[in-house]
Amino acid sequence: MDIQTTKTLPLDWSGDMLAIGFFEDGVELNDQLAELDGKFSNALKELIEETEFKGKAGSSAVTRVGGSSPVRKVMVVGLGKLELKLDSLRRAAAVVARTAKKEKSKTLGIHLPLWNDDPALTAQAIAEGIELALHEDKRFKSEPAENGSNHKLERVELLGLGEQTQAIQQAHQICTGVILARELVAAPPNVVTPITLAETAEAIAAEHGLNIEILEKEDCEQLGMGAFLGVAQASDLPPKFIHLTYKPEGAPKRKLAIIGKGLTFDSGGLNLKGAGSGIETMKMDMGGSAAALGAAKVVGQLQPDVEVHFIVAATENMISGHAMRPGDILTASNGKTIEINNTDAEGRLTLADALVFAEKLGVDAIVDLATLTGACVVALGDDIAGLWTPVAELATQLTQAADLAGEKLWQMPMEEKYFEGIKSPIADLKNTGPRAGGSITAALFLKEFVNEAHWAHLDIAGPVWTDKENGYNSAGATGYGVRTLVNWVVNN
Ligand code: BES
Ligand code: MN
Ligand code: ZN
Repeated sequence: MDIQTTKTLPLDWSGDMLAIGFFEDGVELNDQLAELDGKFSNALKELIEETEFKGKAGSSAVTRVGGSSPVRKVMVVGLGKLELKLDSLRRAAAVVARTAKKEKSKTLGIHLPLWNDDPALTAQAIAEGIELALHEDKRFKSEPAENGSNHKLERVELLGLGEQTQAIQQAHQICTGVILARELVAAPPNVVTPITLAETAEAIAAEHGLNIEILEKEDCEQLGMGAFLGVAQASDLPPKFIHLTYKPEGAPKRKLAIIGKGLTFDSGGLNLKGAGSGIETMKMDMGGSAAALGAAKVVGQLQPDVEVHFIVAATENMISGHAMRPGDILTASNGKTIEINNTDAEGRLTLADALVFAEKLGVDAIVDLATLTGACVVALGDDIAGLWTPVAELATQLTQAADLAGEKLWQMPMEEKYFEGIKSPIADLKNTGPRAGGSITAALFLKEFVNEAHWAHLDIAGPVWTDKENGYNSAGATGYGVRTLVNWVVNN
């Protein structure tokens, strides 16, 4: 499928399906559209009336245009209320793309309003919505993907946007990262393991010219990563500490680190996840690392003037005679001691050593992403990530990056008083506090492993996965975080 922009307007376009966007309460056929509908023998007007189309976000209708019209089918798609959000364009484009596929259109013309008088970002968002909506994951089906070659969507033209070649290319590059992240999260835990996750990082490095360093268990021992290795010790698979580096050609404007939680499976450990705990979904516990690697793939293509370190302490959280026990005390690589009062709070242990490692690189800022707590899902639901940071500037940067990306996040309090809850009588810290405020104590725990560096933490346990189709996300892994990270790296 080829996506192009053109200055052609709907009146002069010909092809299989023409899609036109309308705002809620703005469904009127004036000027150009009235003239267009004249050419369509009023098919558009009748479609809008018969389906009672009101322009609501997510709504749409499609009909055949009779006669000798240069357009075979016309579609209306709702954009919701003014003012236009960039993500409304992605979502409308997704509705259009899915409909075009169902209607077996080969050529598709889309006319949507400009966002912020910016044809480049408008084109980029629409192209992202199309590509992300059409992505299907058939890797684990025994039947080969049906090719339906006679009915494939071949060409999509974004009308009235002039030439936006770079924006379309950038949208595609971003989508390769989002799709990589989706596929990593969706793959079962016997396929995406610490070993294969490290191989994926190596492949990204080779393809896009990044540096790669994989620290083996012995290297991690040398560095004193007792917290990470404590989690890893029950697995039959070796832990892999992944460090991918993107360096620009010239002197970097900033040096950043992105850390992703990389639990390729979280059984809970000896505090085993019980029935109804969602243990069978815990392949998604590497969603943070998927976002980090997805972002690395995009950054390697966009080549910004920023040095970026992508870090994943990859392991499984398993049970065996070698498992860490509740009550064990581990020592992290900054020397802090941690009493394990729950082996299922393992993510923060792996992140602790990753944070210490990142800060030693002398970066200007660190962002970690983690499917860290069920408590964050209770607080913010399935669509919204929690953001914790002691640095106001980072909160602003990440909020803006997420807003442009159409990825929802909400800043949560770094409530120092709750630190009481993770004090241990015998060690420096314990790894879990009381049930109440569980996502906040998790963030406070992480903060103990950062000294001076600017740092932010994103708890993505909710939005990493969606049970049902939602906009340009199909049911399953969403690839959450990739676009926010890329915007954060590129725009600041
Ligand atoms: N990986 C889970 C958190 C999680 C929950 C991710 C739901 C995705 C969806 C994490 O390791 C975990 O088990 N957290 C515990 C912490 C508790 C023991 C303090 C939790 O949230 O129950
Ligand atoms: Mn856990
Ligand atoms: Zn976990």
